[in-house]
Amino acid sequence: MGLGTVGTGTVQLLLDPTGRQALLKEIEVYKVGIKSTSKPRAVTLPAEVTTTDLEAIVSDPAIDIVVELIGGLEPARSLILQAISHGKHVVTANKAVIARYGDEIFTAANSAGVYVMLEAAVGGGIPIIQPLKQSLSVNRITAVTGIVNGTTNYILTAMRDRGSDFAEVLAEAQQLGYAEADPTADVDGLDAADKIAILASLAFGGRIKLQDVYCEGIRDVSGADIAYAEKLGFVIKLLAIAKKAHPASNSLSLRVHPTLVPQAHPLASINGVYNAILVEGEPIGQVMFFGPGAGAGATASAVVSDILAIVAVLKTGTNKSHSLMSCSHQEYCEKSPMDELVTRFYARFLTQDHPGVIGKLGTCFGNHGVSLESVVQTGIRDNLAEIVVVTHDVREGDFHASLDEIRTEPAINSIPSLLRVL
Ligand SMILES: NC(=O)c1ccc[n+]([C@@H]2O[C@H](COP(=O)([O-])OP(=O)(O)OC[C@H]3O[C@@H](n4cnc5c(N)ncnc54)[C@H](OP(=O)(O)O)[C@@H]3O)[C@@H](O)[C@H]2O)c1
Repeated sequence: MGLGTVGTGTVQLLLDPTGRQALLKEIEVYKVGIKSTSKPRAVTLPAEVTTTDLEAIVSDPAIDIVVELIGGLEPARSLILQAISHGKHVVTANKAVIARYGDEIFTAANSAGVYVMLEAAVGGGIPIIQPLKQSLSVNRITAVTGIVNGTTNYILTAMRDRGSDFAEVLAEAQQLGYAEADPTADVDGLDAADKIAILASLAFGGRIKLQDVYCEGIRDVSGADIAYAEKLGFVIKLLAIAKKAHPASNSLSLRVHPTLVPQAHPLASINGVYNAILVEGEPIGQVMFFGPGAGAGATASAVVSDILAIVAVLKTGTNKSHSLMSCSHQEYCEKSPMDELVTRFYARFLTQDHPGVIGKLGTCFGNHGVSLESVVQTGIRDNLAEIVVVTHDVREGDFHASLDEIRTEPAINSIPSLLRVL
């Protein structure tokens, strides 16, 4: 279902099996569901294969595997559920549906004894779902940290490389097709939130409520902050993070926000539309997955690998569910409140250019137990002194309490930026 960017890439891969896994030759593209019959297509299919009747596809007894590549919430959710109720295995690239309706979909799949596979839903062509389900599943995972949205990574990289501001780079990204006409899901961090909810569920073995993921996008990241971050030895990245609040705790910090990443950190060098996911666990230590997070061929590679995994199981002729391919957890993961997060912060202040202002800032921070790693007066902007501060690790609640006190100081004009530091 779906013959757009990913659907076309998937059909092209399935129709070109030479030199690839031998099982590919045993897969027939039996029906292809589309919406418009008049659109030109990049693949030629027999007339009887394409159809606009998607309900007929999900209920057709001749079909073993339904591949959902139409995107959006409805009718995708209902069609997936109907396919499951007709005993079909499902492969999808739809992170929006899985992040919101995963509970309903996996409950239905488990009772029907079918698989729902979603390698392409996170990181496009990067294998990350199966590694979390299988290759890394013996580890006690402590953190999953990813650059999982290519559009925002492209924008932040271009802002840094050219010293441009957000609006200018967004307009250019839209022209180049790297950003949608409505960029909300990408630039406000919602797409990354969907993806980290899925990764956290697999890494930590529990269900995740999407509303438990704290979400902050990149609209307010300014060229000035990118330049100051660079001087201080950081790059700014939109990170999606799922992390145990403490090594021994069961509660998770789940968040998406622009973050200052030390230049020597492996995620700092992931630029442009690329994605990367760093998984940390015991005993493995750190493993990083890097590659193309979108695009027809890359995403089709993930979709077809899922199809193949199901075909391999079907060929064994058993009806028994393969536990490393299914998702069976029932309990919800516990969420750690943002106020309890312990992290470093970067803050930029515009103040009156008076002697003693830095001392006042220091006193307010000290009153709340916030200790400072660096304080730099960077110059004058709009006749105001600009002061950039990086803290040591601090409880987020204490940091905000100190800012509340700072805002009452007459010498402080505004706090244009507040960013967390990895
Ligand atoms: N694009 C990527 O690089 C990428 C990467 C990772 C994951 N994904 C995910 O993959 C999925 C597909 O994305 P895409 O970029 O391939 O989307 P797309 O180019 O917009 O294609 C969507 C396809 O679905 C069909 N469709 C939509 N609504 C339909 C309906 N109600 N009935 C029948 N057909 C319908 C469209 O039919 P017509 O062609 O007839 O209009 C079109 O062929 C999404 O969930 C997306 O999040 C995409």
